[in-house]
Amino acid sequence: MPLVSSLELIKKAREQKKAIPAFNIHNLETIQAVVEGAVELNSPVIIATTPGTLKHAGIANITAIVKSLAEKNDIPIALHMDHCPSFDTIVSCIQSGYTSVMIDGAHHDYDANVELVKSVVHMAHAVGVQVEGEIGKIGGVEDDLFVNDADAAFTIPEEARRFAEDTGIDTIAVAIGTAHGMYKGEPKLDFDRIKGIGNLVDIPLVLHGASGVPDASVRRAIDLGMAKVNIATELKNPMVAAIRESLSNPDENDPRHYMGAARDAVKEVVKKKIRLCGTEGFASEF
Ligand code: 13P
Repeated sequence: MPLVSSLELIKKAREQKKAIPAFNIHNLETIQAVVEGAVELNSPVIIATTPGTLKHAGIANITAIVKSLAEKNDIPIALHMDHCPSFDTIVSCIQSGYTSVMIDGAHHDYDANVELVKSVVHMAHAVGVQVEGEIGKIGGVEDDLFVNDADAAFTIPEEARRFAEDTGIDTIAVAIGTAHGMYKGEPKLDFDRIKGIGNLVDIPLVLHGASGVPDASVRRAIDLGMAKVNIATELKNPMVAAIRESLSNPDENDPRHYMGAARDAVKEVVKKKIRLCGTEGFASEF
Protein backbone atom coordinates (compact mmCIF):
# COMPACT_ATOMS: atom_id res chain seq x y z
CA MET A 1 0.00 0.00 0.00
CA PRO A 2 1.13 3.62 -0.38
CA LEU A 3 2.91 5.25 2.55
CA VAL A 4 0.52 6.13 5.37
CA SER A 5 0.29 8.86 7.99
CA SER A 6 2.23 8.15 11.17
CA LEU A 7 -0.44 9.84 13.25
CA GLU A 8 -3.19 7.50 12.11
CA LEU A 9 -1.07 4.57 13.28
CA ILE A 10 -0.05 6.20 16.54
CA LYS A 11 -3.57 7.27 17.52
CA LYS A 12 -5.00 3.82 17.02
CA ALA A 13 -2.11 2.26 18.90
CA ARG A 14 -2.69 4.59 21.85
CA GLU A 15 -6.35 3.58 22.08
CA GLN A 16 -5.22 -0.02 22.61
CA LYS A 17 -2.20 0.71 24.85
CA LYS A 18 0.19 -0.26 22.09
CA ALA A 19 3.00 1.81 20.55
CA ILE A 20 4.13 2.04 16.95
CA PRO A 21 7.84 1.20 16.75
CA ALA A 22 9.89 3.75 14.80
CA PHE A 23 13.17 2.28 13.58
CA ASN A 24 16.07 4.46 12.44
CA ILE A 25 17.46 3.06 9.20
CA HIS A 26 20.67 3.85 7.33
CA ASN A 27 20.74 2.05 4.00
CA LEU A 28 19.04 -0.51 1.78
CA GLU A 29 19.66 -3.47 4.07
CA THR A 30 18.37 -1.80 7.21
CA ILE A 31 15.21 -0.70 5.39
CA GLN A 32 14.73 -4.27 4.13
CA ALA A 33 15.27 -5.63 7.64
CA VAL A 34 12.59 -3.36 9.10
CA VAL A 35 10.07 -4.03 6.34
CA GLU A 36 10.67 -7.79 6.27
CA GLY A 37 10.40 -8.03 10.06
CA ALA A 38 7.19 -6.01 10.08
CA VAL A 39 5.70 -8.03 7.21
CA GLU A 40 6.52 -11.33 8.96
CA LEU A 41 4.71 -10.14 12.08
CA ASN A 42 1.97 -8.24 10.21
CA SER A 43 2.77 -5.04 12.09
CA PRO A 44 2.51 -1.39 11.09
CA VAL A 45 5.84 0.36 11.29
CA ILE A 46 7.48 3.77 11.08
CA ILE A 47 10.74 4.04 9.17
CA ALA A 48 12.81 6.96 10.44
CA THR A 49 15.83 8.79 9.08
CA THR A 50 18.07 11.40 10.68
CA PRO A 51 19.73 14.25 8.75
CA GLY A 52 22.99 12.25 8.85
CA THR A 53 21.33 9.33 7.06
CA LEU A 54 20.05 11.65 4.36
CA LYS A 55 23.55 13.02 3.90
CA HIS A 56 24.84 9.45 3.62
CA ALA A 57 22.16 7.93 1.38
CA GLY A 58 20.25 10.80 -0.25
CA ILE A 59 16.59 11.74 0.30
CA ALA A 60 15.47 10.62 -3.15
CA ASN A 61 17.15 7.22 -2.80
CA ILE A 62 15.76 6.53 0.67
CA THR A 63 12.28 7.64 -0.36
CA ALA A 64 12.33 5.53 -3.52
CA ILE A 65 13.33 2.36 -1.64
CA VAL A 66 10.83 2.87 1.16
CA LYS A 67 7.98 3.71 -1.23
CA SER A 68 8.74 0.73 -3.42
CA LEU A 69 8.76 -1.69 -0.47
CA ALA A 70 5.63 -0.13 1.02
CA GLU A 71 3.75 -0.53 -2.25
CA LYS A 72 4.75 -4.17 -2.61
CA ASN A 73 3.58 -5.09 0.88
CA ASP A 74 0.25 -5.08 2.61
CA ILE A 75 1.22 -3.48 5.93
CA PRO A 76 0.98 0.24 6.77
CA ILE A 77 4.38 1.92 6.59
CA ALA A 78 5.06 5.57 7.45
CA LEU A 79 8.23 7.45 6.54
CA HIS A 80 9.39 9.87 9.23
CA MET A 81 12.16 12.46 9.51
CA ASP A 82 13.72 12.24 12.98
CA HIS A 83 15.48 15.03 14.94
CA CYS A 84 15.70 17.53 12.12
CA PRO A 85 16.80 21.02 13.14
CA SER A 86 16.35 22.51 9.66
CA PHE A 87 13.13 23.91 8.19
CA ASP A 88 14.55 23.59 4.65
CA THR A 89 15.49 19.91 5.04
CA ILE A 90 11.98 19.22 6.29
CA VAL A 91 10.53 20.90 3.20
CA SER A 92 12.72 18.64 1.01
CA CYS A 93 11.56 15.54 2.91
CA ILE A 94 7.93 16.47 2.51
CA GLN A 95 8.40 17.19 -1.20
CA SER A 96 9.99 13.78 -1.51
CA GLY A 97 7.05 11.99 0.14
CA TYR A 98 7.76 11.75 3.89
CA THR A 99 4.52 11.37 5.83
CA SER A 100 5.68 12.85 9.15
CA VAL A 101 8.56 14.93 10.49
CA MET A 102 10.17 15.82 13.79
CA ILE A 103 11.41 19.37 14.02
CA ASP A 104 13.99 19.46 16.76
CA GLY A 105 14.20 22.86 18.38
CA ALA A 106 14.99 21.51 21.85
CA HIS A 107 18.39 23.24 21.86
CA HIS A 108 16.67 26.66 21.56
CA ASP A 109 15.02 28.50 24.42
CA TYR A 110 11.27 28.03 24.82
CA ASP A 111 10.13 30.95 22.65
CA ALA A 112 12.54 30.21 19.79
CA ASN A 113 11.61 26.51 19.93
CA VAL A 114 7.91 27.45 19.67
CA GLU A 115 8.51 29.82 16.75
CA LEU A 116 10.49 27.23 14.77
CA VAL A 117 8.05 24.40 15.48
CA LYS A 118 5.03 26.58 14.69
CA SER A 119 6.45 27.52 11.31
CA VAL A 120 6.98 23.83 10.45
CA VAL A 121 3.49 22.89 11.68
CA HIS A 122 1.95 25.64 9.55
CA MET A 123 3.77 24.48 6.41
CA ALA A 124 3.44 20.70 7.02
CA HIS A 125 -0.25 20.73 7.97
CA ALA A 126 -1.05 22.62 4.77
CA VAL A 127 -0.02 19.47 2.89
CA GLY A 128 -1.34 16.90 5.37
CA VAL A 129 1.97 15.94 7.02
CA GLN A 130 2.17 15.44 10.81
CA VAL A 131 4.72 17.04 13.07
CA GLU A 132 6.49 15.83 16.21
CA GLY A 133 8.10 18.36 18.55
CA GLU A 134 10.32 17.92 21.59
CA ILE A 135 10.15 19.68 24.93
CA GLY A 136 12.72 19.10 27.63
CA LYS A 137 16.08 17.76 26.43
CA ILE A 138 16.75 14.08 25.81
CA GLY A 139 20.39 13.26 26.59
CA GLY A 140 22.91 11.17 24.66
CA VAL A 141 24.19 11.01 21.10
CA GLU A 142 21.93 10.92 18.06
CA ASP A 143 23.55 11.65 14.72
CA ASP A 144 25.45 14.95 15.04
CA LEU A 145 23.45 15.93 18.13
CA PHE A 146 25.11 15.43 21.50
CA VAL A 147 23.39 16.38 24.74
CA ASN A 148 25.55 15.68 27.78
CA ASP A 149 24.09 14.64 31.14
CA ALA A 150 24.42 18.14 32.57
CA ASP A 151 22.38 19.69 29.73
CA ALA A 152 19.72 16.98 29.56
CA ALA A 153 16.52 18.26 31.14
CA PHE A 154 13.38 16.39 32.10
CA THR A 155 10.11 17.61 30.60
CA ILE A 156 7.96 19.66 32.94
CA PRO A 157 4.33 18.52 32.49
CA GLU A 158 2.83 22.02 32.51
CA GLU A 159 5.41 23.20 29.97
CA ALA A 160 4.56 20.21 27.75
CA ARG A 161 0.87 21.20 27.84
CA ARG A 162 1.72 24.79 26.92
CA PHE A 163 4.15 23.70 24.19
CA ALA A 164 1.59 21.41 22.56
CA GLU A 165 -0.99 24.21 22.63
CA ASP A 166 1.38 26.96 21.49
CA THR A 167 2.74 24.97 18.53
CA GLY A 168 -0.16 22.79 17.31
CA ILE A 169 2.11 19.72 17.02
CA ASP A 170 0.55 16.28 16.54
CA THR A 171 2.85 14.22 18.79
CA ILE A 172 5.27 15.21 21.53
CA ALA A 173 8.69 13.78 22.43
CA VAL A 174 9.31 14.06 26.16
CA ALA A 175 12.39 13.63 28.31
CA ILE A 176 11.56 11.24 31.14
CA GLY A 177 14.86 9.51 31.88
CA THR A 178 15.82 7.82 28.62
CA ALA A 179 18.82 8.88 26.50
CA HIS A 180 19.97 8.22 22.96
CA GLY A 181 22.59 5.47 22.65
CA MET A 182 23.34 2.63 25.08
CA TYR A 183 23.33 3.16 28.85
CA LYS A 184 26.18 2.65 31.28
CA GLY A 185 23.85 1.53 34.07
CA GLU A 186 20.17 0.63 34.05
CA PRO A 187 18.10 3.64 32.97
CA LYS A 188 15.52 4.82 35.51
CA LEU A 189 12.41 6.07 33.81
CA ASP A 190 10.31 8.63 35.66
CA PHE A 191 6.91 6.96 35.37
CA ASP A 192 5.17 9.56 37.53
CA ARG A 193 6.36 12.21 35.09
CA ILE A 194 4.91 10.27 32.13
CA LYS A 195 1.62 10.03 34.04
CA GLY A 196 1.74 13.74 34.89
CA ILE A 197 2.41 14.73 31.27
CA GLY A 198 -0.31 12.36 30.03
CA ASN A 199 -2.82 13.96 32.41
CA LEU A 200 -2.23 17.41 30.94
CA VAL A 201 -1.41 16.73 27.28
CA ASP A 202 -3.98 15.39 24.81
CA ILE A 203 -1.70 14.42 21.96
CA PRO A 204 0.24 11.10 21.84
CA LEU A 205 3.58 10.91 23.66
CA VAL A 206 6.79 9.68 22.01
CA LEU A 207 9.50 7.69 23.79
CA HIS A 208 12.98 8.42 22.46
CA GLY A 209 16.11 6.51 23.41
CA ALA A 210 14.44 3.12 23.82
CA SER A 211 17.60 1.10 23.11
CA GLY A 212 18.87 -0.60 26.24
CA VAL A 213 15.75 0.18 28.28
CA PRO A 214 14.47 -2.98 30.02
CA ASP A 215 11.40 -4.46 28.33
CA ALA A 216 9.28 -4.09 31.46
CA SER A 217 10.03 -0.35 31.60
CA VAL A 218 9.17 0.13 27.92
CA ARG A 219 5.91 -1.76 28.46
CA ARG A 220 5.03 0.35 31.48
CA ALA A 221 5.80 3.54 29.55
CA ILE A 222 3.47 2.35 26.76
CA ASP A 223 0.74 1.57 29.30
CA LEU A 224 1.11 5.13 30.60
CA GLY A 225 0.64 6.70 27.16
CA MET A 226 3.82 6.44 25.07
CA ALA A 227 2.37 5.60 21.65
CA LYS A 228 5.50 5.76 19.48
CA VAL A 229 8.77 4.14 20.53
CA ASN A 230 12.03 5.15 18.80
CA ILE A 231 14.77 2.55 18.38
CA ALA A 232 18.15 3.19 16.75
CA THR A 233 21.20 1.92 18.61
CA GLU A 234 19.84 -1.56 19.27
CA LEU A 235 19.72 -2.09 15.51
CA LYS A 236 23.24 -0.81 14.92
CA ASN A 237 24.94 -3.10 17.43
CA PRO A 238 23.80 -6.49 16.03
CA MET A 239 24.46 -5.17 12.55
CA VAL A 240 28.10 -4.44 13.21
CA ALA A 241 28.52 -7.67 15.19
CA ALA A 242 27.21 -9.70 12.23
CA ILE A 243 29.52 -7.89 9.82
CA ARG A 244 32.53 -8.44 12.11
CA GLU A 245 31.75 -12.12 12.37
CA SER A 246 31.45 -12.47 8.58
CA LEU A 247 34.71 -10.63 8.08
CA SER A 248 36.52 -12.85 10.56
CA ASN A 249 36.87 -15.06 7.49
CA PRO A 250 39.77 -13.26 5.76
CA ASP A 251 38.60 -14.49 2.35
CA GLU A 252 35.16 -12.95 2.68
CA ASN A 253 34.80 -10.12 0.18
CA ASP A 254 31.18 -10.35 -0.94
CA PRO A 255 29.00 -7.50 0.38
CA ARG A 256 25.94 -9.64 -0.28
CA HIS A 257 27.22 -12.10 2.33
CA TYR A 258 28.22 -9.74 5.12
CA MET A 259 25.46 -7.23 4.47
CA GLY A 260 22.98 -10.11 4.16
CA ALA A 261 24.08 -11.39 7.57
CA ALA A 262 23.73 -7.85 8.93
CA ARG A 263 20.22 -7.58 7.53
CA ASP A 264 19.17 -10.87 9.17
CA ALA A 265 20.59 -9.76 12.52
CA VAL A 266 18.75 -6.43 12.37
CA LYS A 267 15.52 -8.15 11.41
CA GLU A 268 15.61 -10.28 14.56
CA VAL A 269 15.78 -7.18 16.76
CA VAL A 270 13.03 -5.50 14.73
CA LYS A 271 10.74 -8.46 15.42
CA LYS A 272 11.59 -8.46 19.12
CA LYS A 273 10.75 -4.76 19.41
CA ILE A 274 7.51 -5.14 17.45
CA ARG A 275 6.41 -7.79 19.94
CA LEU A 276 7.44 -5.54 22.81
CA CYS A 277 5.34 -2.69 21.40
CA GLY A 278 2.35 -5.02 21.11
CA THR A 279 1.80 -4.46 17.40
CA GLU A 280 2.15 -8.02 16.07
CA GLY A 281 -0.97 -8.64 13.93
CA PHE A 282 -2.06 -4.98 14.30
CA ALA A 283 -1.62 -4.27 10.56
CA SER A 284 -4.96 -6.02 9.90
CA GLU A 285 -6.77 -3.18 11.69
CA PHE A 286 -5.81 -0.63 9.04
P1 13P B 1 18.28 4.91 20.71
O1 13P B 1 19.48 5.02 19.86
O2 13P B 1 18.59 4.98 22.16
O3 13P B 1 17.46 3.71 20.37
O4 13P B 1 17.37 6.20 20.44
C1 13P B 1 16.65 6.27 19.25
C2 13P B 1 15.88 7.53 19.14
O5 13P B 1 15.32 8.03 20.09
C3 13P B 1 15.82 8.16 17.82
O6 13P B 1 15.16 9.37 17.84
